[in-house]
Amino acid sequence: KKVLFSGMQATGNLTLGNYLGALKNWVKLSDEYECFYCVVDEHSITVRQDPATLRKRARALLTLYIAAGLDPEKNCIYYQSHVSAHAELAWILNCYTYMGELNRMTQFKDKAAKHADNINAGLFTYPVLMAADILLFQADVVPVGIDQKQHLEITRDIAQRFNSIYGDTFTIPEPYIGKAGAKIMSLQNPEKKMSKSDENPNGSIYLMDDTDTIIRKCKRAVTDSEGCVRYRDEQPGVKNLIDIYCACTGKLPSDVEREFDGKGYGELKMAVGEAVAAQLAPLQSEVARLEKDKAYIDGVIKNNAEKAAYFANKTLRKVQRKVGFPDRI
Ligand code: TYM
Repeated sequence: KKVLFSGMQATGNLTLGNYLGALKNWVKLSDEYECFYCVVDEHSITVRQDPATLRKRARALLTLYIAAGLDPEKNCIYYQSHVSAHAELAWILNCYTYMGELNRMTQFKDKAAKHADNINAGLFTYPVLMAADILLFQADVVPVGIDQKQHLEITRDIAQRFNSIYGDTFTIPEPYIGKAGAKIMSLQNPEKKMSKSDENPNGSIYLMDDTDTIIRKCKRAVTDSEGCVRYRDEQPGVKNLIDIYCACTGKLPSDVEREFDGKGYGELKMAVGEAVAAQLAPLQSEVARLEKDKAYIDGVIKNNAEKAAYFANKTLRKVQRKVGFPDRI
């Protein structure tokens, strides 16, 4: 079986963008691949975190992976910080990554602008840790939203560079970017992606929002004065609503244009709100059920960390040998 790796940060409240852009595809692909789904808590501390909150969110995220339909018997679901090979490989790969390459990362530029008081070295080398995550498992495919595409490209560049110096070591991973939902925009500003860290809570639908909140946020979504439901760049707000609707229902934009032909934005917004709520309700009740089963989740955490470490260490040992570290005795 081919290998799939992906991860999410346990930072902030997860949004519909995280679900439609990533998690939903993870579930869809999980039967086809040998899968590793990581809660990337080490990436989270590139921005200052409250320790108790981080710990809580990391566990909630791991629980969410399972609630979304990933079976922890078949898929390896674990915390990055429980597998030390991530940090060890990241160090090595740091020495094969150029400052110039990292300087070009748009996410670094955005985050550095936002957290001007804490532009730390970890924030700068963040993509190298992400490359280590992926390359450790010899992943063939990495399902992500469009915003992570540049990080996948640098991962491939680092892997190719290493392979060309030391011979075949890493599998060169491909991004998997779904057709619908790869870039969900803010409901309040359709030029900006929907984000966990948006200050305006009406811009994002959070995965734990209840039905009323979801419908209210959809009703308030920013549209335009065209007054027709068309899927085109000139109407970014409407386009985003159609994208959300398609990602939730499996419909195509052309179907949606037909469905709402001659109808107003009010009807579209209501339909979108209901479709989103219908997606999230089962997820929320499954989270609530799993949260009560502490022993089960603890078991998943322990067993899967061991499994992940076993695979990761195989690659790490190979790399350590290639760069010239002394053999273990
Ligand atoms: P993160 O935690 O910001 O986001 C998790 C996933 O959600 C996707 N996503 C979106 N998709 C569509 N529309 C949106 N508005 C939206 N917002 C977020 C992201 O593309 C991502 O797939 N660096 C990564 C985490 C990471 C990782 C990895 C991913 C660390 N190591 C290895 C894959 C493989 C990140 O910060 O994602």
